[in-house]
Amino acid sequence: MLGIGITATDTEMGKTIVSGALAAAIRQRGYQTGVYKPAASGCVRNSEGRLLSTDAEFLLRCAGMEPSEHDQVVRYVLEAALAPAEASRLAGVDIKPRQMVAGAEKMLHSHQLSIVEGVGGISAPLTEDYLVKDFFKDLQLPVIIVVKAVLGNVNHALLTATYAQMHGLKVLGFIVNSWDEQAVGVLEESNLYYYEKLTGLPILGKLPVLSPKLLDGFDSRTIAEIAEAHIDIDKILKLAGGNTK
Ligand SMILES: Nc1ncnc2c1ncn2[C@@H]1O[C@H](COP(=O)(O)OP(=O)(O)OP(=O)(O)O)[C@@H](O)[C@H]1O
Ligand SMILES: [Mg+2]
Repeated sequence: MLGIGITATDTEMGKTIVSGALAAAIRQRGYQTGVYKPAASGCVRNSEGRLLSTDAEFLLRCAGMEPSEHDQVVRYVLEAALAPAEASRLAGVDIKPRQMVAGAEKMLHSHQLSIVEGVGGISAPLTEDYLVKDFFKDLQLPVIIVVKAVLGNVNHALLTATYAQMHGLKVLGFIVNSWDEQAVGVLEESNLYYYEKLTGLPILGKLPVLSPKLLDGFDSRTIAEIAEAHIDIDKILKLAGGNTK
């Protein structure tokens, strides 16, 4: 019942893609793998009018779970593309932190290793006074921070790591998303250098840009292979307390 929380320096940094890639790789290693997200905003209605989270759908496919398990993977689904605190207020939904934590605990207890995706960045409000860091803290989950080697991200990475640690979270390190080996220049190299130098935390992997065909096709086996080739899964499992190959 190990768990790893995935946060990022901002929304849209690739938490879902990185979480799915980690889940696919860990599952491929034979772990019974769970995935979870406490709340999802910007959800879309299906033909029956039911709100579905595309994040949860991607995560569960990567983990080898069934689409019918959607509601166990995400506790609150919200239509407005706003922080859950605000999207829920607009929808008249009363988000209960205890429910989000209980859903995560259920996932964690029923799987060997679960990847738990946050929402937005580390201080995104899930309710008016319950932030993403509170959720990870309540679950005692160590976190990985998804970053991108773009201008300004060293600052965001340092602030995110320091804030998480200040609030008692264990930060395992960074995963650099959308890394393009062909386009590496001074900006990209210096970003990597400063992430590690300023935080003392390791870079655990550099995930390349994945093709839309691969992502839309939920090809979890290929996603797992790419994750294995570009992310130090052994190190992550070790840091999280699991067994390596
Ligand atoms: N490595 C990648 N290769 C290809 N596309 C990517 C990659 N990483 C992210 N994307 C795309 O960028 C967008 C944002 O990524 P993603 O949804 O994973 O971000 P997020 O941090 O989970 O956002 P949110 O805060 O909304 O949950 C998506 O359309 C996703 O498909
Ligand atoms: Mg996401």
